[in-house]
Amino acid sequence: MSRIIVQSQKKLSKINRNIYGHFSEHLGHCIYGGIYVGENSKIPNIDGIRTDVVEALKHIKIPVLRWPGGCFADEYHWKDGIGPKENRKKMVNTNWGGVVEDNSFGTHEFMELCQLLGCEPYINGNLGSGTVQEMSEWVEYLTFPGQSPMADLRRENGRDEPWKVKYFAVGNENWGGGGNMTPEYYANLYRHYQTFLKNYGDNKLYKIACGPGEDDYAWTDTVMRLAGKYMNAISLHYYTVPGIFDIKKGSALEFDEKEYYITLKKALRIDELITKHLQIMDRYDPEHKVDLIVDEWGTWYDVEPGTNPGFLYQQNTMRDALVAALTLNIFNHHSDRITMANIAQTVNVLQAVILTNGEKMILTPTYHVFDLYKSHQDAMLVESSVQTNYIGVDEVKIPQISVSASVDDNNHLNITVANTSMDKTDSTECFIFDKEITAVSASILTGKMNAHNTFEQPDNVHIQKFDDITICDGKLKFEMPPCSVVKIEVQ
Ligand code: AHR
Repeated sequence: MSRIIVQSQKKLSKINRNIYGHFSEHLGHCIYGGIYVGENSKIPNIDGIRTDVVEALKHIKIPVLRWPGGCFADEYHWKDGIGPKENRKKMVNTNWGGVVEDNSFGTHEFMELCQLLGCEPYINGNLGSGTVQEMSEWVEYLTFPGQSPMADLRRENGRDEPWKVKYFAVGNENWGGGGNMTPEYYANLYRHYQTFLKNYGDNKLYKIACGPGEDDYAWTDTVMRLAGKYMNAISLHYYTVPGIFDIKKGSALEFDEKEYYITLKKALRIDELITKHLQIMDRYDPEHKVDLIVDEWGTWYDVEPGTNPGFLYQQNTMRDALVAALTLNIFNHHSDRITMANIAQTVNVLQAVILTNGEKMILTPTYHVFDLYKSHQDAMLVESSVQTNYIGVDEVKIPQISVSASVDDNNHLNITVANTSMDKTDSTECFIFDKEITAVSASILTGKMNAHNTFEQPDNVHIQKFDDITICDGKLKFEMPPCSVVKIEVQ
């Protein structure tokens, strides 16, 4: 039995909607096939962009989209992806499968995608193999309103008005694939490159520095010390890998009870990582001018058997839904300092919310968690806590219940709760202070730990109405099925 306490008037911080952001890279079938099929495709599209995928992402209110990578960003030369498609340079995607990248999806296509989605673009510049001039000119091309070489080039390519671009990152994982740099070297390069990223007209950039991978606290320390005052945010990357990264990560579909709990326990580790990186940031930035963003997170398994190992295609089960629910609850709780997070990746790669196969598209369990959680976007986080059992196998123990709660503009209280147990129902009581309960409605996502959707059975896992809630003496009582995520709306 668990006991949740929600103090609905104790407003803590605004949950930036960008915490529910996404990441899409030129990797496998994320962009090509997943998002972009080209104007001549039989798959319904607008200027080559799949309409089914756009509609699905709009439904979960995708707020921001990071592009073009990832590792790909540090070998991407943006001028190869503009102008008439037949003239665009073809290149090798050295990071991801060595396939030919024909650059048919470039800056204009990405900006159109964001416009169709109604989301903010987040562009990752190339520090690893690009020049200062190249990065600087990309910003000019995108945002300069007057006459200039880059603005004129943009006009030649059919776009008169500048776009609005706020989020711009200087490099990706420069401690690894983005150049194997030391933090000192990166910090100096960051200071140098960002100097030439200008604010044109009324466009104001929000500059993001490459931050640490996992628990590389020394990276955060050095980059904050040397370059902290030149950035708006620093990014953290953390992937949940049940096994060992370069040896055997684990299967997306075939895992036992222990591996299930190991995965969830590893997902919960992000709380500690965030807390410790924030403590280091505080030393150099006591006024909290620099935000922490988690612009890559999610599960990473061995690829689906028979698929290209460089394409990172994996299935997605209720275990992934639980990882998403726990992670998003943690982000909500840190929303005073975390202003953006981007799940890796939107379509067909890693913990995707959408999988496609030709003209077919399915929504994964993770998609449904984003759907359940969307009412937290831009709402006020309120105090919530839980008393619950520790469950698991052998030494692998985790809390059974996870929760976060927020109050939206209509004064509705939204509570998201996850039951991590793979086999135990939880009798949950939820005490709500400072709110008269006039109406309650709830939805649930539940299934066996490896339940998933397929192209043959796309609705195995889907959101259902959850009626089994009673109100008595100002508290809610409900039975949380094993392996479930519930969203409760209290009016
Ligand atoms: O998301 C896949 C890869 O993971 C990204 O390209 C890179 O930044 C990270 O290592």
